[in-house]
Amino acid sequence: MNEELIIPNHIGIIMDGNGRWATQRGMVRSMGHKAGIDNLKKLLKHANEIGVKYMSLYAFSTENFKRDTKEVDFLMDAFVKKFTTDFHEIMETNCKVVFSGRGEPLPKKVLDAMASATEQSKNNTGPVLNICINYGGQWEIVDTTRKLCEMYKNGEITLDEITPESYNHYLYQDLPPLDFVIRTSGELRTSNFMPYQSSYAEYYFPKVLFPDFNEEEFDKALVEYNSRNRRFGGVKK
Ligand code: IPE
Ligand code: IPE
Ligand code: MG
Repeated sequence: MNEELIIPNHIGIIMDGNGRWATQRGMVRSMGHKAGIDNLKKLLKHANEIGVKYMSLYAFSTENFKRDTKEVDFLMDAFVKKFTTDFHEIMETNCKVVFSGRGEPLPKKVLDAMASATEQSKNNTGPVLNICINYGGQWEIVDTTRKLCEMYKNGEITLDEITPESYNHYLYQDLPPLDFVIRTSGELRTSNFMPYQSSYAEYYFPKVLFPDFNEEEFDKALVEYNSRNRRFGGVKK
């Protein structure tokens, strides 16, 4: 890869298209999720090698509970496996895993596996991997607002202390802003993914389905990022 490229500090990936990938091959949707998870393993290794510092992954939205129980159960079991038996794969990338999302109504086995992943990787010094499970951007803003209202009520914070920067500190995770958000599968929407953190992010919508979004596609995305002119409301340099 071109070594001159600027690597975005915080990359978000809306990992979409697993179901279509499977359907196109005459397989059940869950096989697409399996292929997506296998692909993720390679991507994480690659992201670590090229020096990505923060990565946020949209794995399951609050709205995804609307899907068939069979598919939801498959995904829940896949999360448990990823954060327990297969967790050594993530440990090998030295990633520090954190989660964003609501606890309710995730099954206890998933919450336990998530807690174990956080605990095991807490001292890792590689990229921070923020995994969004049962995540909804609107809920994150509502939950944060509720937290701040509680603090205000208890005299722990004043109104003047609530600013765009301090608000960020009380989100599910206190992460730097998203620089680059990639959504695979060609859908041109963000589906409730990290709205607060992506206010100045660059977006990229490749047509490729997530199981096929390999290292080469990732590098192509970085080239695209480098062609953008970020102004943050200022004047073009
Ligand atoms: C993304 O792939 C994975 C999750 C939402 C869990 P999809 O399952 O949405 O795949 P498509 O969009 O139906 O192809
Ligand atoms: C967004 O994809 C959620 C994840 C990738 C986890 P969806 O497939 O759920 O989004 P919509 O329904 O197409 O907007
Ligand atoms: Mg989808």
